[in-house]
Amino acid sequence: MIEINAERFILSLNKLREFGKSGVGKGVVRPAYSLSDIAARDWIAEQMQLAGLKVNFDPLGNLFGLASMDSILLGSHTDSQPEGGWLDGSLGVMAALEIARSVKEQGGPPVSIVNFQDEEGRFGVTTGSAVWSGNASIAEADQFKDVNGISLKEARGLMGERCADFVSPDQFKGFIEMHIEQGPQLDIKGQQIGIVSSIVGIRDMKITFQGEQNHAGTTPMQVRKDAFQSLSLFNNMLNQRLRNIVTPQTVWTIGQVIIHPNAPSIVPGQVTFSMQWRDAELDRLLRIDDIVRSAALDVAKEMEVSVSFGTMLGLDPVEMDKNLMGALEYAANKTVGSQWSKMHSGALHDATNVARLMPTAMLFVPSISGISHSFDENTDDPDLISGIRVLATAVDYLYANVN
Ligand code: GLV
Ligand code: MN
Ligand code: MN
Repeated sequence: MIEINAERFILSLNKLREFGKSGVGKGVVRPAYSLSDIAARDWIAEQMQLAGLKVNFDPLGNLFGLASMDSILLGSHTDSQPEGGWLDGSLGVMAALEIARSVKEQGGPPVSIVNFQDEEGRFGVTTGSAVWSGNASIAEADQFKDVNGISLKEARGLMGERCADFVSPDQFKGFIEMHIEQGPQLDIKGQQIGIVSSIVGIRDMKITFQGEQNHAGTTPMQVRKDAFQSLSLFNNMLNQRLRNIVTPQTVWTIGQVIIHPNAPSIVPGQVTFSMQWRDAELDRLLRIDDIVRSAALDVAKEMEVSVSFGTMLGLDPVEMDKNLMGALEYAANKTVGSQWSKMHSGALHDATNVARLMPTAMLFVPSISGISHSFDENTDDPDLISGIRVLATAVDYLYANVN
């Protein structure tokens, strides 16, 4: 039975928060390949080594701590959103580290750790695990650019000589990712653990309306080709057209807007914005794609502007492995009694990509008030500790029942 050291686990989470801490609440600013992200990875690599693991950064900067023989893989990611919470991804990596440390001290099943790079999509969608799993090629990913026009190829160059080859997935028996829920369900139910049954699918692309830049005082309203007004009309039209096909779980977001030249006295000539949608069913994701494109084309016609569509990024919905879920259910019953439920994940995770390679499962702990992707994200310590105990118990159970 792996006995984790709860105090050391919470201390490690707080130590990791020092890398890129925002000064607002417990939040962090640690985007992929930033100085704070790379410094955090270096610290984690040292800790992996101390836990007896062999450290390997792959060409993307995904960081592995490898046990000496075939092992179960645990982990998540430590890059953050531009305004991120201290637990999103970090929890799964620190939980994996604490379990590996405990195994080194007490003996126990071989545990390897992964800390994926750019899960939060500075460049793509779960970029590091997407490339590792073969969901995207490195040549393709290298072309991805962030909001400032920096390419992934340039950014990953900053990791320099740390980076070696890709790690073969064949040495892992399966992958379990512990994460915060990032939604309100467990908090509302007053439960401590969520066992994920499936993960949502996503589509994400940039759309550009190109109009005509002109003087905001002299250009009559009827002759303007205003890019912002085009986006405004598109948003309304899309909301209307989606009404008949979405479910209460379907979500769509325009979260990033770059308007040019972004000045009060200029009719904007160009707007580029992110268009993202998520649904549990592949068929609906594809139908929404048609609706998004036809609405944009109709707006372009009506507003006499042109429209262009960027590269479509996406991950299909995925089911979790039943055997690993069974181990988590056993562990949850043992650790928290009935204070758990099975649930769907509306957030994306590296687990989606890893599921292409090996049996994969996830467990959640509650997010206070369901807040995440915000400096205000938090979880109570007792819930964090219950989560890692469930994870450690599931690892024990798997080895006891498979080997
Ligand atoms: C992952 O961070 C997501 O956007 O769901
Ligand atoms: Mn995450
Ligand atoms: Mn996230």
